[in-house]
Amino acid sequence: MFSNLKFLTSLLLSMNKISFLTKTSTNATQNKFEVLGLASCNLRHFPNFLREQDQLQWLDLSYNNIQDQIPKWVWNTSFDQHMDNFPWPQLQILDLRSNMLQALPLIPPPSTLVYLVADNMLQGEVSPLICKLSSLHSLDLSNNKFRGTLPHCLSNFSNSLSILNLQGNNFHGMIPQLCAKGSRMKMIDLSQNQFEGLLPRSLLNCKMLEILNLGSNQLNDVFPSWLGTLSELRVLILRRNGLYGVVGSPTTIFASPKLHILDLSSNKFTGKLPFEYFQSWKSVKKIDADNFTYMLEFTSILSCGNVVFQYYPYSMKIINKGREIMYSKIIEVFAAIDLSSNEFNGKVSEFIGNPNGLQLLNLSNNNLTGHIPLSLGDLTTLESLDLSQNKLSGQIPWQLTQLTFLGSFNVSNNQLTGLIPHGNQFDTFENSSFDGNLGLCGNPLSKKCENHEQAPLPSSGIKEVQDSWFHIEFDWKIILWGYVSGLIIGVVVGNVVTKKMQCWFVRT
Ligand SMILES: *[C@@H]1O[C@H](CO)[C@@H](O)[C@H](O)[C@H]1NC(C)=O
Ligand SMILES: *[C@@H]1O[C@H](CO)[C@@H](O)[C@H](O)[C@H]1NC(C)=O
Ligand SMILES: *[C@@H]1O[C@H](CO)[C@@H](O)[C@H](O)[C@H]1NC(C)=O
Ligand SMILES: *[C@@H]1O[C@H](CO)[C@@H](O)[C@H](O)[C@H]1NC(C)=O
Ligand SMILES: *[C@@H]1O[C@H](CO)[C@@H](O)[C@H](O)[C@H]1NC(C)=O
Ligand SMILES: *[C@@H]1O[C@H](CO)[C@@H](O)[C@H](O)[C@H]1NC(C)=O
Ligand SMILES: *[C@@H]1O[C@H](CO)[C@@H](O)[C@H](O)[C@H]1NC(C)=O
Ligand SMILES: *[C@@H]1O[C@H](CO)[C@@H](O)[C@H](O)[C@H]1NC(C)=O
Repeated sequence: MFSNLKFLTSLLLSMNKISFLTKTSTNATQNKFEVLGLASCNLRHFPNFLREQDQLQWLDLSYNNIQDQIPKWVWNTSFDQHMDNFPWPQLQILDLRSNMLQALPLIPPPSTLVYLVADNMLQGEVSPLICKLSSLHSLDLSNNKFRGTLPHCLSNFSNSLSILNLQGNNFHGMIPQLCAKGSRMKMIDLSQNQFEGLLPRSLLNCKMLEILNLGSNQLNDVFPSWLGTLSELRVLILRRNGLYGVVGSPTTIFASPKLHILDLSSNKFTGKLPFEYFQSWKSVKKIDADNFTYMLEFTSILSCGNVVFQYYPYSMKIINKGREIMYSKIIEVFAAIDLSSNEFNGKVSEFIGNPNGLQLLNLSNNNLTGHIPLSLGDLTTLESLDLSQNKLSGQIPWQLTQLTFLGSFNVSNNQLTGLIPHGNQFDTFENSSFDGNLGLCGNPLSKKCENHEQAPLPSSGIKEVQDSWFHIEFDWKIILWGYVSGLIIGVVVGNVVTKKMQCWFVRT
């Protein structure tokens, strides 16, 4: 039906519950598509009619079951330097995420802005030809089986690149220099590979960097406090590496005014907790129900006088409430600190500055001493607090019962004493949260307290366990966006160029 609509140039059928049927005999269509969205349309092959679609600028075949080798007519010419024979010479956005592609990586034409092939079974090394894509804006090769070292030409790679996501492959070797002066890089995710050695100092050139994830590699370096000059940095994840030394110095990362997710867990950092720096964390005090946003980047192209946006939400994996959780989108107000499984020592100082909005604090498995600071009770948005496996002493402050969103709490394996507070969330924690403290008594432990000096507790009623403080108001939106599977397409009709302007004119 669509193939007979002569003037149809944009067709977006993505993310419905339809199966897009193409008879293998449909080779030619009467129309030339420019924008074609067939994500999640139960495709098992590259539809044949695509062969003739030489006007395509935007092609989305993500979330299908395309299992073929990428057909010959697509990649035949891809590896030689002249890409004139590529079937879609105008292509700017190509999204093949979440299929079952196994073929060698294809190199799309030099006009490409967005190239997304995440979540396939692609193998092999990344060809230096990738650096010929001089306008490339987003490159996502994550969750494939790519291996080898990264081509050195990446160091000079296009200053247009904003998104580099290589997470979950088998790359090894040193991380090459990644940003040249004037770089527009916003997201670098090299996590879950086997990169080794030092963090490249050229990261300092990534002045616009917002998210840096180098977690789960074999990096060996001191704490990169020099990253503190990156004033746009919001998320820093260095989890599971061999990083060592003291965290913090006058120009530390914590000077980054926007930083709100910091994961340094499972390294060999020592010294005092860098708490004083968190004072400067300013996060949203009051959340506007109609106006919370995800961290994302977008690219736009002009097609027939319409601006078509391709949104790319940032993603990350962190451990929350004891489980590794994939955040396929990150809400801007989410704030988390994970310093667990290091060798931090000294006291946990009062959490001054009250970085309101902090939802996750994990200090477990360090060598911390002293009392649990009362001011933790002011972190009213906290959902997960893990202080287990340290040498903390004293009582559990009743102020912690003010944390009405706390869904996960763990102080096991410390040297705490006295009565376990009760009320609110504290009536919901299992006894394994308190295990391994010989001096603790009262519910939920079977050990009863001997003296009855019950601390006066605020007598607010028991609230339901809330999953998340913002879920209450925002649940429906999260569900709604959840179905979009990481890709939102907006078509703004008309107004960028004069309404009556014809397609041929725009192209000219
Ligand atoms: C479509 O193309 C294939 C391969 O080139 C060819 O075998 C087939 O006959 C074509 N079908 C039509 C209807 O032209
Ligand atoms: C592949 O490319 C070669 C030369 O570039 C050409 O001779 C051949 O016909 C192409 N094969 C297909 C299937 O397009
Ligand atoms: C990077 O670019 C400079 C000049 O722009 C060139 O001299 C150098 O060889 C390039 N390096 C790589 C690895 O391509
Ligand atoms: C939403 O928030 C942004 C930044 O926080 C602000 O600039 C914008 O005006 C807000 N929009 C509305 C409709 O409140
Ligand atoms: C805290 O981090 C440790 C690993 O360092 C992890 O095992 C534990 O599950 C985390 N706690 C929570 C509540 O997520
Ligand atoms: C933990 O701290 C104590 C002193 O408070 C010190 O003797 C011990 O060596 C530390 N352990 C580690 C693993 O750093
Ligand atoms: C608390 O942490 C310990 C490890 O220190 C773990 O064994 C236990 O399962 C945790 N309990 C809860 C409720 O998370
Ligand atoms: C934890 O609770 C179980 C039953 O719910 C009990 O058998 C066990 O002894 C308790 N453990 C401690 C340390 O109190």
